[in-house]
Amino acid sequence: MLGAGAGLGAAAIAGLRPLAQPNDLIERTIPSTGELLPVIGLGARNFRSRWGDLEMYRAAIRSFTDLGGRLIDSAPSYGDSERLLATLVDELGLRDRVFLASKIADHGTHDGNVSFENSLRALRADSIDLMQIQDLGNVDAQLATLYEMKAEGRVRHVGISVWLPNEQTQLIEIVERGEPLDFIQVDYAMDNRRADARLLPLAADNGIAVLVNLPFGRGRLFAETDDEPLPDWAADIDCDSWAQVFLKYVVSHPAVTCVIPGMTKETHVAENMGAARGRLPDAAMRRMMEQYIDEVVDD
Ligand SMILES: NC(=O)c1ccc[n+]([C@@H]2O[C@H](COP(=O)([O-])OP(=O)(O)OC[C@H]3O[C@@H](n4cnc5c(N)ncnc54)[C@H](OP(=O)(O)O)[C@@H]3O)[C@@H](O)[C@H]2O)c1
Repeated sequence: MLGAGAGLGAAAIAGLRPLAQPNDLIERTIPSTGELLPVIGLGARNFRSRWGDLEMYRAAIRSFTDLGGRLIDSAPSYGDSERLLATLVDELGLRDRVFLASKIADHGTHDGNVSFENSLRALRADSIDLMQIQDLGNVDAQLATLYEMKAEGRVRHVGISVWLPNEQTQLIEIVERGEPLDFIQVDYAMDNRRADARLLPLAADNGIAVLVNLPFGRGRLFAETDDEPLPDWAADIDCDSWAQVFLKYVVSHPAVTCVIPGMTKETHVAENMGAARGRLPDAAMRRMMEQYIDEVVDD
């Protein structure tokens, strides 16, 4: 098991779970800037005022940051998610705490400039921590825009985000040609390990930070393990739930910087942030976890 440096202390000896402390968090370094990020972030795709009430989203964000979370991923294509986040972050006084990521929406604008400005307006910000290209159709023109914005100090990190199989092939070509990306974002999960073949090692070799989306396959992994009791080995990596097992599998990949589960419920946030603490599976245990899930899926 990989040690995460979390001391368990008297509470653990007494058989109690230690109180979550932000300084127990497992963090990873962004290679291009040396900045540290907790390994669990928050995907805000489902933060939309039409889909839930503000109090639920406020509780989720408050719990996320109270537990040490920083990176929140949004996009202009997620309804009013950017605007809603800006409201909550300001109301809760979290501007200096959070690391905000968004994306360029290609609404017919070739270079993404309009989308970039719209996002800053929605986020009520002069600059953004990470801006990612989401539609690879105009990737060269959009990269040029983002590099310019980075030179002007309006974006701190530049990235590209994908989630479809054919997009991974194109992203591999972009990384291989040496684009100076700070981040890539890709789908990767215990039962979806396609990115492990080429993209993840390539990112590590090129000093590019990796965000992982769809760590639960939008609920697919929960459905697959619905009838399965949590195996005994979950305790060896300090997991109390399947969600934590799925997240620890992802963040134990050496190329992964941060995973961004979608989570709108406070209870899910608390459970998922537990995966940023304690032991992580080592390489041998990761192989065993892969065999385990493959057998469950095959059944
Ligand atoms: N092209 C792209 O760039 C792209 C594409 C897809 C996704 N993304 C990013 O990746 C993020 C994650 O993807 P996703 O949200 O679609 O899928 P996901 O993270 O695989 O799954 C999210 C679902 O899991 C549920 N969940 C979270 N924690 C749980 C727990 N502990 N127990 C049971 N259920 C739990 C959530 O429920 P609740 O909401 O009820 O908590 C939600 O229904 C997105 O929010 C977005 O930021 C980017």
